[in-house]
This record gives sequence, C-alpha cells and structure tokens, in this order.
Amino acid sequence: MEFSVLWRLSAVLLLCPLYMGVGVLCEVTCSEEGMGMEGGHYTLTKQLEYGSILIYHCPDGYYPFPALTRSCLKSGTWKPAPRRRPIQQCRMVECPNPLGLESGSVLPVQSQYFVNNKTTYECYSGYSLRGSASRVCQSHGKWSGGTPICSRDSGGEDRCADPGIPAGARRSGSSFGIDDELTYRCDDGLNLLGSKTRVCQESGQWTGTEPSCYYKHTYDTALEITEAFGSAIRESLQLAAPIDDTDQEGKKITIDKAGKLNIYIAMDISDSIEEKEFDKARNAVKKLITKVSSFSVSPNYEILFFASDVLEVVNIIDFSGENRKPLEEVLANLDNFKYDARDNVGTNLNLAFRTILERMAIQKQRNETLFKEVYHVLIFFTDGAYNMGGSPENTVAKIREAVHMNKKEERDKYLDIYVFGVGSEIFDEDIMPLVTKRDGEKHYFKVKDAKELEKTFDDIIDESKVVGLCGLHRNYDDGTANSIRQRYPWMARIENTHEDGIISKCMGSLVSRRFILTAAHCFKFADKPDKIRVTIGKLQVVNGASRIILHPDYNIRGKEKDGIKEFYDYDVALIQLEKDVDISINIRPICIPCTKETSGALRLVGEATTCKQQEQLLLKNPIEEVSFISFDKKDQMDQRSDAKLKLEVQLRDSCIRLAATQVDGITPLNLKDVVTDNFLCTGGRQPTRDNIACKGDSGGAVFKDYDDYRTIQVGVISWGTKDLCPGGSSDVQQESDDESRDFHINLFKVVPFLKKYLGDESQDYEPLQFLDK
Ligand SMILES: *[C@@H]1O[C@H](CO)[C@@H](O)[C@H](O)[C@H]1NC(C)=O
Ligand SMILES: *[C@@H]1O[C@H](CO)[C@@H](O)[C@H](O)[C@H]1NC(C)=O
Repeated sequence: MEFSVLWRLSAVLLLCPLYMGVGVLCEVTCSEEGMGMEGGHYTLTKQLEYGSILIYHCPDGYYPFPALTRSCLKSGTWKPAPRRRPIQQCRMVECPNPLGLESGSVLPVQSQYFVNNKTTYECYSGYSLRGSASRVCQSHGKWSGGTPICSRDSGGEDRCADPGIPAGARRSGSSFGIDDELTYRCDDGLNLLGSKTRVCQESGQWTGTEPSCYYKHTYDTALEITEAFGSAIRESLQLAAPIDDTDQEGKKITIDKAGKLNIYIAMDISDSIEEKEFDKARNAVKKLITKVSSFSVSPNYEILFFASDVLEVVNIIDFSGENRKPLEEVLANLDNFKYDARDNVGTNLNLAFRTILERMAIQKQRNETLFKEVYHVLIFFTDGAYNMGGSPENTVAKIREAVHMNKKEERDKYLDIYVFGVGSEIFDEDIMPLVTKRDGEKHYFKVKDAKELEKTFDDIIDESKVVGLCGLHRNYDDGTANSIRQRYPWMARIENTHEDGIISKCMGSLVSRRFILTAAHCFKFADKPDKIRVTIGKLQVVNGASRIILHPDYNIRGKEKDGIKEFYDYDVALIQLEKDVDISINIRPICIPCTKETSGALRLVGEATTCKQQEQLLLKNPIEEVSFISFDKKDQMDQRSDAKLKLEVQLRDSCIRLAATQVDGITPLNLKDVVTDNFLCTGGRQPTRDNIACKGDSGGAVFKDYDDYRTIQVGVISWGTKDLCPGGSSDVQQESDDESRDFHINLFKVVPFLKKYLGDESQDYEPLQFLDK
C-alpha cells in the first residue's frame, strides 16, 4: 500500500478545449491516488469516470471502515471524500452489544464483541432462560442462536410471553398484558430492522416481527433468507395453486387458478450494483422463476431492470387472456437482455414502482372482477439508493390502495412487497417503509452480494415442505448417496423371499404415499406380502407390504403352447404398503401418466387436460431420451443410466426385431404377439450407445425429467434380450452392444389398472386424481 502518497490528492485537469466555438464538456476524471486500504482492496465500476463507484473489499470477517463505497462526482472528486483520519482500513466485524439482557448476567463483559467471541447467559434465581444460553459472534455480524430471555417463573398473569431484548437494542415497556405496547430502539450506529413497536394481542402473540439491530456491515445469510422468504412465498404459491372442490351436485371439480398470481420482479442495475454482478443477479431471477414453476402454479410475470430508466424485459400485460407466455419464453427474454451500464448514472427507484402501478391499473381497467382475485407479489432487488424520481413511498402507498381497495384487513394477503437489499452499501432507512409488514413475516433481506443471492434462490423453496407434488426433486447431485436420494426420491428396492427361501431383488418406484409400482415377474404365485421388504433408498425406511396386486392380464406361461417359455405382456404390479410413507426431501412419489398431478407437473393446468396431451408431450419425438436407475457395485451406489426409446414406427420395428434372432421361441412370425404394442424398446448402439438394464433393475422406473424439477415415469423395466451382466447388477454401468435390447411396459397402456387401485376413492388412503379421458 502506498501510504506515502495517500493524501497528496492530485489537482484535476480542467482545461476544456474550445471546438469551433462551442464549449465541450470537460472530461473530468477522479483520481486513484491514495485510495488504497489497509488490509483490503477496491474495485471501480466505471474506471475513473463520472458516476463510477469505488467499492472496498475486505476478507471474510472484516468490513471496510470508515467508507464502504465512494462515488466519483462530476467535479472529479470522491463522495464521501477520503480523509486522513480515521484511516481507511478493514476492521474486524463486530456484533451488537448483548448486555441488554434483563434479570440475568452475560459473560464476559466487554465494550465490543468481535467475530468468534463467545458469550454465555445465565438468569437470576426466580427466572428461567429461554433462547440460547451461549452465542457466538458470526462473520456476517449477527449472534448465533436466538435472543436469550430471562422470564419470571411466576409470570402467569401475562397474556404474551416476554419477547426479550435483542442485542444492540433498548426496550421501553415491560408489561405483557393485552394491548400493552413495547417500543425498541437500537444503539448508535445500528439500524433497526423489524418492528419498532409491538403490541400484545388477545391471541397471546405480539404484533409484527422481532426487531434486530444491524450495523451497515451486518447481512442475512443465504440460510436465514431461505427460511424466511421461502416460507412466505410458499404460502403465496399455495394460495395460487389449483384446488379441488365439489360443485353443487357433489361432483369433484378442480378450481383452476392459473393467472391468479402476478409476480413483479424489479432489479436495480444502476451503478450501485456492480456490472460483473449482473449475470449472477440475472441467474438468481431465473432460478427463482424456475423454482416457482415447479409448483403447479402459472404466474403472470412482469420483469424489469431499472437505473435512470426502466427496461421492461417481460410485460405482464402479455399474459392476459388465453395467450399465456410460456416459461421458456420468459427465460429466453431474460437471457437475451443485454446489460449496458454506460448510460446509467442515475437510479430511479420510484419509476420502477410507478411502472408496476401502471401495469396494475391497466389490468384493473380491463377486468376488475378478475383483478380482485389476483395475488400480487412484488420482488425488488436494490440497494435502496436513488438520485432521481424522488422517494417511492407515495407510489408504494398507491399500489397498496390499488390492491387493498379500502379493505386492508380483508385483502392484506393479496399484496406482498419484498425487497432484497443487494450491494456494497445498502440504505435500510429508505427500504424499510416500502416492504410489507405482517406479523411473523419478514419482507426485507440484506444480501452480501449477487453470488450469495444465487445460492439463496437455489434453496429457497425447500421441496421437503411441499406435500402432494409428484416428481419434485433436487436437480443436482454431488455424487453422494444422500444427494442421489434427493434427486430420485421415489426410488425403492424390493426384496422378496419366496416360499422356497430364495430371495429375489427388484426395483420399484413410489407412486403414491401408499403404493410401489414394480414388475409383476418379481413375484411368484405363492408369495406372501409379509415376506416382502421394501426399502426406500439407503435411508432404510422400511415399510411392510399388505397386498401384492398383479396386473390381471399378466400370465408368464400364457404362450407356452406356442413355444414361448416366458411371456411378459402386462408385466406390472403394485405393492400396497401397510401405512403411508412420510413425504420429505428424501421420499416423494414420482409422477405417473394420466393423473391431474402429472398435468400440473407438465403445466397443462388450466385446460381440460387429457391423457393424450400428456403422452404427446412426453413421447412426442421419434426418439426420446429416458433414464433408469441401476446399482453400481463398484461404487456401491445407485447411478442414473440413460437410454433412448425408439418410438417412430420403423425405428421401433428395427429395435424389437432383434428379439426374433436372440430369444428362443421368438420368430419373425410371432414377434409382434410376444413384443406387443405395450412394450417400449431401448438398447443397441444407434443413434448412440444406450445403457442396458441388468437383472436386479427389473421393475424400476423408466423416467423423464421435465423442467429440471419434476420427474415423470413412462415405463417399467421388464425384460431384455441379452444378459450383459450375469450375477446381477454390473460393476459399472452396463453399455449396450449391437444385440442387446430392453423392453419396458408403457405405462400409458396400463392406465385402467393403475386407476383401479391408485385412484380408488373408497379406501383408507388418499387416491391419485386420474383424468377422465
Ligand atoms: C474477542 O475477539 C478479539 C478479536 O479476535 C480477541 O482479541 C479477543 O481476545 C476476544 N475476546 C475473548 C474474550 O475471546
Ligand atoms: C373477468 O374475469 C372474470 C373472473 O375471472 C370472468 O369470469 C369474466 O368472464 C371476465 N370478464 C371479461 C369481460 O373478460
């Protein structure tokens, strides 16, 4: 660091040449001299031009002091101007003072608490501790755990529980009866986020949310945001998901809510957000809307970027009526948007809100009845700083009026305004008045940078909390057994001990909370349900079977007199479990054809969807890529194998023809009687080499992923022409040779069987909703 030159600010050259008599704007630049920082470095958003922001960076656990950023003014000087003292340096992150604990003691007592400093809390006698008994100061400026509270053991009179005093805060008010009010303020240098005042309600709950005191350098972690934002947005998504109801005649109907959720996303791309961060921010938006779509909701989107002007990437008005914009198009619009920071010297936050208000007005004017039914979710990404257009507070008030229609209480849930504070310097005071305030819900988050934001949206809608969405899964794995489980949470293993003591192994798939779908040939006539062990994944979730149901037309000896030793048509079976499995991130049913759940996964919601539409969507190409799971003995792990369904007539013919040369008893003459239309064919090396199934893979799902987040099963692995892996599963994933073929039962051909049991409404289990046609 060059401290010797630190304060020798060079004079700015202000000679402006005259050009044909016209004065040209002076190209004044800021100087980099002496801008260094002890312990860290800085970056510039636009070199040393007017409007450039100098951003200081420190290692984790440190923050820049006294300035976080400086901006280059027209005059060629920095604001705030660098000064000799205090010297610009990286300081250790501090956590707010925890000594405000009432009726207890805090150890150790210090004037300041730094990263990794630990504190312990003890209550005086007659009081007992709630919250954390020990806390550690973390690198994002917050204490670990929850606020420690010492409450009177004999506090029976109070309606509400003592909510404690958060670190760094002072509280006035100490009675907790109905209508009692508490107010909070933070120590100097700290901003209060959450509720400044809270009132004890008859329900025993405090209004608002717990206040917390943030330094400028305090941030929310991805995990904190995931939990708070995830649960709030999930709520909105569930409100907008289709619901089943009964009509006046008691007939089941589905109330379609497609188009009843409006999501407005506005992202600040002014200089206050670094240029290189833009792509990460865009990715975060893409992740968010892709995740949202994995719920069976079809929101209308408004997506805009703003700086001194507003750039509309997706216009919500394009979603009106039947012409809904598909998600692919929304994503493509985002991809095609070119970031150009050159002319963005200003930030007009108000204009962004005004654009949204205008879009709302158009919708309301077009159909007020419809507008009243729509939920509006606004998600802003900004640092809160604006230098044009004035404060957005009035506009936000108008947005509230437009949605609430003078019935705030009743219509409160129709509007949510979230702000993600992103940037090197975030202006809390300006952002807080804009966001929705609702008891127990957080709508304002402070994110350290765009990378952290992306990570946040990766996990934001925790799949584990969502029951009833078939095929939903994590879309990445890191090769560990656990992540493979989360990617294929429907995968089941079946061990069947036959009467003669021989054990056979098959694969299966969880298709509802009570049923496993597998192959009929895994069972013999005399098999007993109590001899079946179903393991759902490596987690050893074992459920006893109560019933084995084979397809009624399955008969392995059915063509014996024609010289066919084994005949596998209708090779499907269901295992009914004794009780429902619990849905979690590790265990969730796969989608199967011709159910409403699958229409939702394929986003066919909204129309009178049919089985045919699903088939056309899933099996539309001459060759369709599918996958199945096989066990890799070497790595002792389940692996995904890939193959291609040959669907086009000639391709399929040549795929199945092989059976006539490879299998005893099959001839070109009887080929189509043995390999009936119910079979799907994979294998061979054309157009590229397929993986081939091994013996233990029988009964497993042949599946397709849709949209990254949903999985639909199209077939059940039945039999093959050639055993390429004698002795069961292979050491490595087995690759097909020219002569090997696999045949799978096409689930679209066995829907009546599936519907009869899985859709049975008279049983003690939740039926799947099958489509009428
Ligand atoms: C608190 O952290 C500071 C900075 O790391 C350290 O110097 C100090 O010893 C710590 N105090 C305690 C009590 O651990
Ligand atoms: C307005 O919306 C309602 C509710 O969705 C709908 O029933 C009605 O047909 C719409 N009116 C017009 C004119 O589009």
